[in-house]
Amino acid sequence: MGQEVRLSGWVDANRDMGGLIFVDLRDRYGVTQLVFDPQRSGEAHAEAGKLRGEWVVRAKGKVAQRPADRANPKLATGEIEIEVTEVEVLNRAKTPPIEIRDDLVAGDEARLTYRYLDLRRNPMQRILRMRHAAAMAARNHLTGEGFTEVETPFLIKWTPGGARPFLVPSRIHQGKFYALAESPQLFKQLLMVAGTDRYYQIVRCFRDEDLRIDRQPEFTQVDLEMSFVEQDDIFTAVEGMIGAIFKDVLGVEFKLPLERVSFEEAMNRWGNDKPDRRFGLEHVTLTEIVQKHDGGGIKLLKNVVASGGIVKGLRLPKEHEMPRAQIDKLETFVKGMGAKGLAWAKIGPGGSWGNAPLAKVIADPMREAFNAALGAQEGDLLLFQFGPEAVVHTVMANLRLHLGKKFGLIPEYGSGGKWDCFWVVDPPLFEYDEEHKRWVAAHHAFSMPRRECLKDLDAGAADQSPTSPLKKVLCYRYDLVLNGYEIAGGSVRIHVPEIQQQVFRALGITEQEAQEKFGFLLEAFGYGAPPHGGIAVGWDRLVWLLTETETMRDVYAFPKNQKGIDMMSGSPAEVDAALLRDCAIKVELPKEEKPA
Ligand code: AMO
Repeated sequence: MGQEVRLSGWVDANRDMGGLIFVDLRDRYGVTQLVFDPQRSGEAHAEAGKLRGEWVVRAKGKVAQRPADRANPKLATGEIEIEVTEVEVLNRAKTPPIEIRDDLVAGDEARLTYRYLDLRRNPMQRILRMRHAAAMAARNHLTGEGFTEVETPFLIKWTPGGARPFLVPSRIHQGKFYALAESPQLFKQLLMVAGTDRYYQIVRCFRDEDLRIDRQPEFTQVDLEMSFVEQDDIFTAVEGMIGAIFKDVLGVEFKLPLERVSFEEAMNRWGNDKPDRRFGLEHVTLTEIVQKHDGGGIKLLKNVVASGGIVKGLRLPKEHEMPRAQIDKLETFVKGMGAKGLAWAKIGPGGSWGNAPLAKVIADPMREAFNAALGAQEGDLLLFQFGPEAVVHTVMANLRLHLGKKFGLIPEYGSGGKWDCFWVVDPPLFEYDEEHKRWVAAHHAFSMPRRECLKDLDAGAADQSPTSPLKKVLCYRYDLVLNGYEIAGGSVRIHVPEIQQQVFRALGITEQEAQEKFGFLLEAFGYGAPPHGGIAVGWDRLVWLLTETETMRDVYAFPKNQKGIDMMSGSPAEVDAALLRDCAIKVELPKEEKPA
């Protein structure tokens, strides 16, 4: 109070009260009221009359207590104002196409096109600061644990098997291309061969994939790799970091160590490997019941089970009312995900199935067994899926999430005050490729098989049948799940050449192919590779969940839209013909897509 100050910022609001003029000056620290009194300075008062929204100004004056009738207890600066003696216009501004206000309601297109104006708003500045605070917490924690941040190349050699890369043509070596790194994976493993021991990097990654709600073409990872460790050591390092981030940024304490759920259990109970466990509506696998009752009078079920398919059910308790018309809508929804239909039953008196289509055909003993397995009570709705395992899991997982949001068991976005963070462990190393009738890597070829599964790898390496022992080979791979999103994934790597060769053999990769594809990594491993493993945290996803914002785009300063376009600069775009010529590139568009 009483101090001479000089404030600079943007004009947030301007009120001429006929006599006094009040201007709200905004900068990233908040809003301060400037008062212009013609008695104090006629010149400043005259100047204030000309100020418009978003003009950049600097004002000099004295801090004074606001009179009681002007005080605003809701504002941090609501008790004071600046009695201005001098004001200087540093820059004028056009009328902004979006309003600079905290509660802005504007379309994505306008917000992304004028991103610098969108970012001028408080909630967006708050997100940038939270992202920074999270990065500081991660950096401080990892540094304290003896990790060294090492930068790795973005322009790298393309290796097969990963995500689709962005290509960068070489001018000096015409006809050749770099790929933009989809992750530092190979380099961080080479750092382990180099003896770095504990590596980390907050690193940008590039993947030319189809975009989804939780995917951008460029995204950031907090990437780690450690030597002489087992899975538990990596978990401890990551849990410490995640714990530090939640504590520093949100003041939330996690109970450590985090819970571990096997991949198999996750698939059975929730139908996917990143379940949202903040609400119930769990799945129940009914395949064995159908087997036991030989189809229970339903031929379709009998056939599905006989051909290796599965049967799953979900109970919607009676408090979540679902009239017939809505069940039909639900059926349309699941058909959109590849389901053939949606079987259902509404429980009547004594466990009867009322007028559900299946009620007429299902044998009483199997109906009773289904009811018991699902814990069905009068008034509940049972929903069923049967068919190939992958489809049933996916459909049921999405159905569960849909119902969870529909009945408000979880919010559309944000935590709803619940943070559920846990590991999903022990996934299979291989999966069966129906199209090519052979086993392929479920993730990649370098994850270490679990110790007790080495005998199955041995027994199955030459067996490409769908029932091969390869099916039973689990590995030391793990994902970290937060509120239904995979926020990190990694594995213990294979450092033993004999095991690597066996995995290649099971995948049908010959020694020559392995040399061609991964030669420099295998060569390096010949010079003393320590046991090692690591993980990468999807940084944008984690910060998105931490900030509880609506879309992951919100935590990027400059994101791409759903079509991978930067609306502000208009990238991707055509380039100068001379640039193409330098790289010996000729653009030939498919005929129908030729621009007008
Ligand atoms: P992975 O491919 O599982 O592992 O990626 C790690 C984490 O990164 C996040 N993520 C993405 N986030 C935003 N947009 C995307 N397009 C995107 N793709 C992935 C996810 C994911 O869990 N090198 C391995 C890690 C390792 O094995 O150490 C890797 O990149 O949250």
